[in-house]
Order: sequence, then structure tokens, then C-alpha cells
Amino acid sequence: MSETHPQGAPWRNFYGRRHGKQLNAAQKRYLEEDLPGLAPGPVSHEENPERRKLDLAARFGDRPLWLEIGFGGGEHLVHQAQAHPEVGFIGCEPFINGVAMLLGKLRRARPGNVAVHAGDARDLFDVLPDGSVAKCFLLYPDPWPKARHHRRRFVTPEHLEPLHRVMAPGAELRIATDIPDYVRQTLEEVPRAGFAWQAERAADWREPWDDWISTRYERKALREGRRPHYLTFRRV
Ligand SMILES: C[S@@+](CC[C@H](N)C(=O)[O-])C[C@H]1O[C@@H](n2cnc3c(N)ncnc32)[C@H](O)[C@@H]1O
Repeated sequence: MSETHPQGAPWRNFYGRRHGKQLNAAQKRYLEEDLPGLAPGPVSHEENPERRKLDLAARFGDRPLWLEIGFGGGEHLVHQAQAHPEVGFIGCEPFINGVAMLLGKLRRARPGNVAVHAGDARDLFDVLPDGSVAKCFLLYPDPWPKARHHRRRFVTPEHLEPLHRVMAPGAELRIATDIPDYVRQTLEEVPRAGFAWQAERAADWREPWDDWISTRYERKALREGRRPHYLTFRRV
């Protein structure tokens, strides 16, 4: 079993980066020592791999589950987990350097309500029980600017349909992006997948959420003069 392709999981194309520059000694240690204990498991022992699901009660008791997809360096995830000790948090990120950065922050902040899936969100959707996610954050997903790459974007049925299945009715989905064409695709595809856009006035998408903390990617976008959009949906 590999860290990125769990045994029995369907084969999937992944176009992003899994590794960046060489990890330092401390980061390697965090991955070795901390990551195994932060796994979102255990998974139930069903014969049929498609029926194997995470036992969330064993991990988080009766806390509601929040999910952050592609947490990057983890600053938003740690901020939310500390602000909401009453929720259980799963962070999902296939870029191992980002995972190592999150683990460094978790060592310092020690929130105690965070689990980490160091891999693709689609593999996590396979094992999340239906309707189990009470809130989901998708913050600055990879923009894939070239038209021929738009189908690699996260806001496509391949990702949105299983996300819809694992989210609870009425659960909130927050999407931030600085790319106007990503806004277009999001507003086309996400409602089609069964989520209702909540904006009533321009301020609702121009201004960040009340409990927002700017991410690394957002700070770069702002430095480079791009405008953030904050899109809030509810799972219908
Ligand atoms: C542009 S970065 C933004 C990172 C962070 N959210 C921020 O705002 O700084 C997008 C992140 O999504 C991650 N990502 C891409 N595809 C993913 C997938 N299928 N599942 C989970 N994360 C994914 C990438 O590895 C990358 O770290």
C-alpha cells in the first residue's frame, strides 16, 4: 500500500505536484513520527472494498466533521481547528511538502481535533460515509488556466459528485478563487452538482467570511494584483 494510492482504490490520474524541494530533517521527522497517528481511519472490515468506510465515531466521537481539501501550508486549517475545538477536522493534501508544513504547525498549536489524509481527495471520498461532512473548504484550488486543462479543475463532476454524496444536506461548501474563469466554471458546475449558491449581494462574494484567515496562496494573489472571490454554497 502506498501513501498516495490506497490498496483497492481505483486508479486515478493526478496532474498536480506531490513533491517539491527537498524536505529538511525536522519535516522528515514530522512525517515519520506524526503522520501515522493522524490518519483519519480506522476503516471498517467489509469484504467489498466499495463498502469500506471510515469509522468517524472512533476518531472524533460525536463531533461534526469539517473537511479542508488542498490545505496547502495548513494555516487556514489550524486556525479553524483551534477556533472550533467542538468539531473534528480532516485535512486533505497530496503535496507532501505542504503536509510537512501542516505537521510543523500542529506540533506548535496542538489542537487535538485534526486528522490528515496525505493524498487525493477522491480517495478520501471513497471511504467517507454518505452525508458525513458538515462543512467543506476548497480554498484556491489549482487554477489550470489553459482551456484544454479546464477539465482537470476540481470543480468538475468527477470531484463534485462524490463530494455531494459525502456532504450532509444543508452543509456549507466554501470555495475561494482569484481566477475569473474559475469563478465562471464554479458557478456553472457546482449548482449542477446539487449545491445552491448563497450570495444575495455583491459583498457576499467580494468580502471574506467572518472567520477567515488569509492563506499563502491568497497573499500571493493579492501581491500580484488578483482579486479574491469567496463563494458560499449549500448542499441541496
Ligand atoms: C493553489 S494551491 C492552494 C493551497 C491552499 N489552499 C492555499 O490557499 O494556500 C491548491 C492545492 O490543492 C491541492 N490539490 C490539488 N488536487 C487535489 C486533490 N485532488 N485533492 C486534494 N488536494 C488537491 C494541491 O496539492 C495544492 O496544494
